[in-house]
Amino acid sequence: MEVKNAIEKRRSIRKYSKETVSEKVINEIVEAGRLAPSGCNAQPWKFYIVNNKPVVEKLREKKVFRQDFVYSAPVIIVCCGDTNAYIGKYGGEYQVEEGSVPNDEKARKELFSILEEKKLLRTVRDVSIASAFMVLKATEMGLGTSFIGLVNESALREVLCIPVGFIIPFVLIAGYSCGNIPQRPRKSLKEIMCKVK
Ligand SMILES: Cc1cc2nc3c(=O)[nH]c(=O)nc-3n(C[C@H](O)[C@H](O)[C@H](O)COP(=O)(O)O)c2cc1C
Repeated sequence: MEVKNAIEKRRSIRKYSKETVSEKVINEIVEAGRLAPSGCNAQPWKFYIVNNKPVVEKLREKKVFRQDFVYSAPVIIVCCGDTNAYIGKYGGEYQVEEGSVPNDEKARKELFSILEEKKLLRTVRDVSIASAFMVLKATEMGLGTSFIGLVNESALREVLCIPVGFIIPFVLIAGYSCGNIPQRPRKSLKEIMCKVK
């Protein structure tokens, strides 16, 4: 499937068939996230895969999700970001090509402190990009997905023992869709595009 088709075909799916998703397919989806770009190549993401009943029941018990359909999704991918992943990356082993940061020491320091200040935003950004790659990969493989932002973060953190310093911007659910969903409305290109003259 071409990227264009995956983009056009994707819908948020809230009803899944009972068919399970194989480990191989799950790995391929996460592999698409692994290859995504990230600031300073910090790769701050961590994806917790939940596809076993007792854990799902624990999530239900702790009321982690407000929407019932989430518990019946065959796979729940908890998308996390380590806000400390950037530490030591500036100028370090992941620092990119020559000329990508200023040579001047003062300007460098200033740049790195700006980057440090924005670590939360940067982490959310990187996790979002990787997750979008994963969603398109899942679509290509015939799966339905949905982002889930309505999450009781502290309860989820507790159930999965997610470390301090990790944020959970959202969860992704995936599985085989029960039916076709028409495209949901979008603003026109005219409304979202501003041609600077
Ligand atoms: C970051 C994010 C969080 C979302 N959270 C939820 C959610 O908690 N529950 C839900 O049912 N849908 C959620 N959605 C799905 C949106 O409602 C959906 O993307 C939007 O209505 C457009 O529909 P479409 O994805 O089918 O094009 C979320 C989407 C995004 C991108």
